[in-house]
Amino acid sequence: MIDTNVNRQHGNNVKWSVIKDDDQLLPMTVADMGIATPQFIREAMQRVLDTKVLGYTMPSTGFYDAIIRWQKEHHDVTLKREQLILVPSVAVGLSFAIRHLTQVDDGIIVMSPYYPPYKQLVDDNHRQFVEFPLVQREGQYVIDFNRLDQLMTDSQAKAIIVCNPHNPGGCVWTTTELQRLEDIANAHHMLVLADEIHDDVAFSDNVPVSMMSDLMGEEAASQTILLKSATKAFNLAGVKCAYLAVKDPQMLTTLKQAAAAEAIEEVNTLGMVATQTAYEQGSEWLTEVNAYLEENRNLAYEYLREQVPMIRPMYPEGTYLIWLDFMAYGLSDAELDTKLRDLGHLCLNPGIDYGKTGKGFMRLNFAVDRSVLKDALHRLKHFDESVRQK
Ligand SMILES: Cc1ncc(COP(=O)(O)O)c(C=O)c1O
Repeated sequence: MIDTNVNRQHGNNVKWSVIKDDDQLLPMTVADMGIATPQFIREAMQRVLDTKVLGYTMPSTGFYDAIIRWQKEHHDVTLKREQLILVPSVAVGLSFAIRHLTQVDDGIIVMSPYYPPYKQLVDDNHRQFVEFPLVQREGQYVIDFNRLDQLMTDSQAKAIIVCNPHNPGGCVWTTTELQRLEDIANAHHMLVLADEIHDDVAFSDNVPVSMMSDLMGEEAASQTILLKSATKAFNLAGVKCAYLAVKDPQMLTTLKQAAAAEAIEEVNTLGMVATQTAYEQGSEWLTEVNAYLEENRNLAYEYLREQVPMIRPMYPEGTYLIWLDFMAYGLSDAELDTKLRDLGHLCLNPGIDYGKTGKGFMRLNFAVDRSVLKDALHRLKHFDESVRQK
């Protein structure tokens, strides 16, 4: 059973650290959940603690088998153990792949708006950050493939990050879109860095397809590095365990060698236990959580459309993030953030942090108890009424 009765106002929690400035502030930001990490995972971790020793631990066969089975059964991705590389987090894995599969000054294409650390990872590894703006059609993001093709030619970029489902837009790219992406990337000999960390959060009207799935075919798989973990769907971001999947033999050899050189595969013992347990025992729990999140998604989307029409939500096809367009208020990004905090006592992620295309937007995380979500929505309505009165 899912448990949404959690208090996160302690323990150096990243999301809740903002309340030191205003204890009335409600943060709906960082992409983890206000839903308890499932009890069966915490119990499995407890059993490790009960052995009284936290020494060096090897990844077990059961751990690898759990990943392989999960990816096959849930995402139609066929993997072998030797195609997996363990990393502490998806961000670390992305940086690692960029460093070892591209050269200094190479361009990396990133669809904008984007998960903000992408920019830092690319910049700090001294690669060129090549921003590719998504365009809006009927309030949803779409990929302008002609422009992408042109950008690949002009920029001479070597890789593209494909975030599916997309953070912050909540888009689930269709199979047709993924196939076109793959065709264009292939024509330009471009490496695809497929960040699919959000793909276990899936709603009844949209099921994400993996770039490395059997459906997408061998060619797509061979030019793709898949980045994944159990952390988003099972609320395990603090346990530091993720993996890359690599099918192309040459890239695999390069990355395996680099992984040995950096000892990067020595991931957290409790993280491995948590991941294995999530994948072995978590299907039913996840179905329940996804149904709960889908109702939250519907509630947030419909409430805003009906009650606060000046805020235009993008419909989240996936993820537990809703991307909100506040442009109708005519506020600067700084004013918007300040007024949301001061008038609504609400803290959201400013869209401007997600690239130029995020100007005038805010991101709200709806993976919380429904009463907390309702509170946040009422705060948005209050913000709206207060701003319009002035
Ligand atoms: C799209 C995306 N990729 C990567 C990450 C970070 O994952 P990790 O904590 O494994 O580095 C996040 C976290 O919010 C994310 O939304």
